[in-house]
Parts: sequence; structure tokens; C-alpha cells
Amino acid sequence: MGRIILTGDRPTGKLHLGHYVGSLRNRVLLQNEGNYDRMFVFIADVQALTDNADNPDKVRSNIIEVALDYLSCGLDPEKVTIFIQSRIPELHEMTQFFSNLVTVQRLQRNPTVKAEMAMRGFGSETEDDNRRGLPVGFFTYPISQAADICAFKSTTVPVGEDQEPMIEQCREIVRSFNSTYAPVLVEPEILLPSNNACRRLPGTDGKAKMSKSLGNCIYLSDDPKEVERKVKGMFTDPNHLRVEDPGNVEVNPVFTYLDAFADDADFARFWPDYANMDELKDHYRRGGLGDMKVKKFLINVLQDRLEPIRARRHTYEQDIPGVYEILKKGSEDAREVAAKTLYEMKEAMRINYFDDPALIAAQAEAYKAK
Ligand code: TRP
Repeated sequence: MGRIILTGDRPTGKLHLGHYVGSLRNRVLLQNEGNYDRMFVFIADVQALTDNADNPDKVRSNIIEVALDYLSCGLDPEKVTIFIQSRIPELHEMTQFFSNLVTVQRLQRNPTVKAEMAMRGFGSETEDDNRRGLPVGFFTYPISQAADICAFKSTTVPVGEDQEPMIEQCREIVRSFNSTYAPVLVEPEILLPSNNACRRLPGTDGKAKMSKSLGNCIYLSDDPKEVERKVKGMFTDPNHLRVEDPGNVEVNPVFTYLDAFADDADFARFWPDYANMDELKDHYRRGGLGDMKVKKFLINVLQDRLEPIRARRHTYEQDIPGVYEILKKGSEDAREVAAKTLYEMKEAMRINYFDDPALIAAQAEAYKAK
């Protein structure tokens, strides 16, 4: 069986370095390796609306931001089908059918949904306050996400580790559907970033996660001055007060960023005093290495990676109608695939009434004979 890659992002903001090392960079590598039958990348606007129902303009304006981020990172619409979730109504039919195979109790155990509910203040304690109640659509989004994956018979889903529970829940839905009806759907595998630093990139403030709501992001679309300002203001080891003090690389996000971005060639180019990360870390641990020097190195490395991304973004920004054309064409192509899967699902579920001449003939006979 072939390999089908699918992944997506909610359009709730511009994409940042955490998205880049956690998934985007990997997608471009996968695309260029060409070791797949088909690759889909999509903008999950329906999922974004599950907790932004009252703010559709936020979702609307971020469609183009995410599309520009995709294209500027090097996703190539000739190789990858890029589409918008809400353009594929088949996904909603699938979600409805899947929801009969999932219990409320199972959804309540999904750790990512739990954490997200807590973060948004959705929960029973606040039930008296309607605005804070838990929207049904939000609670059930893992089911809709399973439809996103199954509609394309995806085998491989490159995402961050926070998405692991979603993929596991999707696999359960596939097993349940296939054993209840017929083996139509494919169990997907998660594809995580290999390097630990990439799995969860901390914010510039040293907090566990880079996240728009925490205001600790470096965006792919930040200009060089902004990147420099943000890196210079980064949190470091708080006990590394004087240059001579020994430093701790583990708690210093500047080193985590370097682990995610820098390679030996960067040392040769930008900081030949050291051959590699190990030597640099050793010096920091021993003491005698100032934080600003490490930050300057990180700035050089980041600017080097972001420069081609900025250049491509600039080109695409000059042709916004062309970007929408890419999304429209991608959505049409994706819809064809989803429609085919939905047809097979309905056949397996035996609700394909008009497409089953045997059903009609048998019942015609039976009623005539009465
Ligand atoms: N939940 C994902 C996120 O928050 C976005 C997403 C929606 C997704 N549907 C998907 C990712 C299907 C992979 C596959 O980033």
C-alpha cells in the first residue's frame, strides 16, 4: 500500500519557529524526498472555529497568513495538495458517522482536549456562565480531526507531540469503523520530529511552549530587526549572572533553539572558535562565556534560515490572488478524494440506497410476493 502524508494547522495566527521546527521543516523535507504517493497540507478553519465561533474574522484573516507561511517555507503546490478544510463538506458527514463510534467518556479522557479546555476556561465549574461553557464542537473536535485524516486514507501524519492523543483516537475510530462495517479506512501513524529540542520549542521567555497567547513567539514573518530584538531579549540561565559564573544550558532556551537550528557548518561560518554544539556547551558550563555572544550566534543562524523564507514570502505577497487560486485548486482536488472515501464508507455502512440495484430489486420482489 502507498504512503499518503497529511497534516494541517489551525488558522488562528501566523506560524512561528515552534511550528517550523516541530513540523513545517519536516514537511518540506518529506516533500522533497518524494517518498510518498500523495501529500496533503491543509488549513483547519473548521477546527479553528470550534473555539472562535464569535470571531470568524480572526479565522478569515489568518487563512492567507498560514498559506503564505506554507508557501514561503517551500511547500510546492505542484507536489503537495494545499487545501482549506471548510471547502470539503464530506468531512462533516464523516464526522457525524464517526461520532456514533466514540463515547463521551473516551473524549473526556483525551489529554490534549483536557489541557486545552483548562487553558480556555471551558469546564463544568463555569457552566453558569454561558460564554465559558464547553462548546460541543470543541469537545468533539478530535472526531472531526479523525475525519480529516481518514478522508484521504492518510498513512503518515507529521505533527507535534501534543497531537499524539488525536492520532491515537483516530486509530481507534478506524478500527471501530472497519470492524463494525467493512475494512475501508486506514490506520495512520504519527511522525514526530526526531530531535527533542524540535518537539517542544520553548518560548523566548523560557516557558515550556512557544505560543501566541503567551506572547513569546518568533514568527516566520518577523523582519530581521524583530528577530534580533527578540533574541537579545531572550530569557537565559537566571543564575549565570557574571560571565565567569558556570552556566546551565538545560534551562537556557537559547541553547534549545541552537539545538533545533544550528549545525556544524554554522560554527564554521559564524563562530569558528567552536567546532560544534558540544564544545560551545562545555564552555558555557565551565563559565567564562557571556550570554550575548551566544545570542549573537543564534541571531546569525536564525537570519540565515529565515532569509530564503522571507524572500519567498515577499514574492508570494505580490500575488495574493494567485495564492487563493492555489488554495481553490487544492481544495477541489482534495474534495474529489474525500468524496470517493465517503462513497466507500456509505457503501460499507449500507446507506447507499440509490446506488445498490440489488437492494431495490430484492425489495421489489419481496413486496410483489406479499
Ligand atoms: N489539531 C491540529 C493543530 O492544532 C490541526 C489539525 C486539524 C490536524 N486536523 C488535523 C493536524 C489533521 C493533522 C491532521 O495543530
